[in-house]
Amino acid sequence: TGAFTYDPGFTSTASCRSALTYIDGDEGVLLHRGYPIGELAEQSSFMEVAYLLLNGELPSADELGKFETTITRHTMLHEQLATFYRGFRRDAHPMAVMCGVVGALSAFYHDSTDIHDPQQRMIASHRLIAKMPTIAAMAYKYSVGQPFLYPDNSLSYTGNFLRMTFGVPAEQYEVHPAVEKAMDRIFILHADHEQNASTSTVRLAGSSGANPFACIAAGIACLWGPAHGGANEAALNMLHEIGTPDRIPEFIARAKDKNDPFRLMGFGHRVYKNYDPRATVMQKTVREVFDALKVSDPVFETALRLEEIALNDSYFVEKKLFPNVDFYSGVILSAIGFPTSMFTALFALARTVGWVAQWNEMITDPDQKIGRPRQLYTGPTQRSYVPMSKR
Ligand code: CMC
Repeated sequence: TGAFTYDPGFTSTASCRSALTYIDGDEGVLLHRGYPIGELAEQSSFMEVAYLLLNGELPSADELGKFETTITRHTMLHEQLATFYRGFRRDAHPMAVMCGVVGALSAFYHDSTDIHDPQQRMIASHRLIAKMPTIAAMAYKYSVGQPFLYPDNSLSYTGNFLRMTFGVPAEQYEVHPAVEKAMDRIFILHADHEQNASTSTVRLAGSSGANPFACIAAGIACLWGPAHGGANEAALNMLHEIGTPDRIPEFIARAKDKNDPFRLMGFGHRVYKNYDPRATVMQKTVREVFDALKVSDPVFETALRLEEIALNDSYFVEKKLFPNVDFYSGVILSAIGFPTSMFTALFALARTVGWVAQWNEMITDPDQKIGRPRQLYTGPTQRSYVPMSKR
């Protein structure tokens, strides 16, 4: 052992100072640069939130216009990257493709990898935010065997992403305004969440001086896990498996059984011991999308009923387990037309904003040093090597 504080899962360690995002988990409060997530989700746009997180203040109309133009200029991918996609199997998980392609960006954009130059850091940040929709849409197109679509810079950030995903060259793609709004809001809800596992991964990778593309690829890898960003995919799969509300008690019983590894996906949070404010907006958005598209999905009824039963069950009440951001997002995303395998890729797309903002904050922090935790050693004490003949 050593004279170190033992804190597995970093439940009581502040790894950095940050002025980006504030969470009060007991009260269910989430603020970005002081602004409540509910207000941003209702009144702002994803590009405005990206500007806010990166620069600290809401932009003026002029500043936002310039920012959007800058992002628009970086939406295209190096043409050689299309070849890179073709090396993957068609049934590759989009997150596997995203990890690879984003990691490979550093091989294409050498001119924005000097992390000590603020100008280059900003260009790399803009490139990542701008290229993520293109990269995610191409992962989808590749999986369904349709041609890649180039970005259309006359569209909004989110409208362009929807077109690159669902459009085909043979037809004019009309972006549905309600879907565009819902998608943009989902991006806002995922933009940042202080020192979550993937953001901490980005910071840790960045603390060694690694280039930003490599750092974001590390974040994507971490986000993929079902305890983190992969929960949206797992939550919808779970709701389908439950099927009808009459089977909910069976799954609730399984979630409570300590001998069963099953957990209610989309439930519980390390920080929120109250309703996740993002889940509130998400649930409302399900209804808006259903109304706009004139669709419904029995899985939503199952989700609502599951929430109701869980929130009245002493196990979930005592452990303060509430729906989190991932519980309802899958219902909306599948109504829009995304396969479950794309859900976490969309989370990665949006979280890229938080990752690059946090990475920039870290690089400019005078206290910044390489992240290097210690351990409590539990192995054997020193002993002499035993030759093979004596073992
Ligand atoms: N279903 C059943 N029991 C649960 C659940 C759940 N979803 N979540 C936590 N618990 C229990 C857990 O078994 C433990 O019980 P006990 O104290 O008796 O051992 C207690 O609640 C505390 O759980 P924990 O695992 O110690 O808490 P944590 O802070 O380490 O984990 C979590 C947080 C989010 C990983 C966990 O709640 C979980 O696995 N949830 C399901 C996956 C999920 O929805 N993840 C998305 C998180 S939000 C978006 C994101 O971060 O990407």
